[in-house]
Amino acid sequence: MRSLLKIEGITKIFGGLTAVNDVSLTANQGEIIGLIGPNGAGKTTFFNILTGIYKPNAGRILFEDQLISGMKPFQIANQGFSRTFQNIRLLKEKSVLENVQVGMFRKTKAGLWASILALSSVKKEEQETIRKSLEILSLVGLDGMDEEISGSLSYGNQRRVEIARALVSEPKLLLLDEPTAGMNAEEVEEMSALIRKINANGTTVILIEHNVAMVVDLCDRLAVLDHGVKIADANPDEVIANPAVIEAYIGKDQVEEVSSFVEN
Ligand SMILES: Nc1ncnc2c1ncn2[C@@H]1O[C@H](COP(=O)(O)OP(=O)(O)O)[C@@H](O)[C@H]1O
Ligand SMILES: [Mg+2]
Repeated sequence: MRSLLKIEGITKIFGGLTAVNDVSLTANQGEIIGLIGPNGAGKTTFFNILTGIYKPNAGRILFEDQLISGMKPFQIANQGFSRTFQNIRLLKEKSVLENVQVGMFRKTKAGLWASILALSSVKKEEQETIRKSLEILSLVGLDGMDEEISGSLSYGNQRRVEIARALVSEPKLLLLDEPTAGMNAEEVEEMSALIRKINANGTTVILIEHNVAMVVDLCDRLAVLDHGVKIADANPDEVIANPAVIEAYIGKDQVEEVSSFVEN
């Protein structure tokens, strides 16, 4: 297996708090990796370091054997990174299509507003962008919804628009921060199927999830963060049987209480 992303010993300190503590992780080409852990474990901070939003206090990141830590977010995006955010970030008054088109300009230095302004003047590029955006909307299951106002869509469909926006630049690596947050069981199933489809098209995926059942079923590998430290990294069945992981989730006291209850 070819390693796509190699994270070596990254640490991020906020004031007195070590949010990410000496974490290493390798993502191989074609994998789906789940990143789990209790609230405040440092998962989102970890993504923010990968995408260049935060500079790590220590450690380095290699993407396709090239050093990317220290690069600016748009430079990292240019290497083939895309992400979605924990809180949906759509231009709610804009159409679905416009929101997806924005993803094509993520890579440029001009930034969001300059990109939107440039749309009207760059006709040929715009045609190509629209074609590509419609193709991606169909992939994520939003066929025929391109003219809808984004804010009027169901929560699940707004998440799909975000993913479409992240995919339109054809990333090699897709980072999803809690893609199923706020979804019902049926929407979670659909999201799993969508992630599988994206992965089958050749995109490596790392997703942060609170839904453990979903990631156990979906992922090739799970990494667990607790208080900024990686406490497990293995295949899903192994990870959920790991006592340190169970303890991180429900607390040491409860583990002892439950095991003594079971033993008696
Ligand atoms: N910009 C920031 N400044 C200070 N503290 C932060 C910042 N971002 C995150 N943190 C803190 O870092 C810890 C990890 O947060 P986060 O990465 O959001 O956790 P998770 O996504 O696993 O729930 C938390 O204690 C959080 O309050
Ligand atoms: Mg988070």
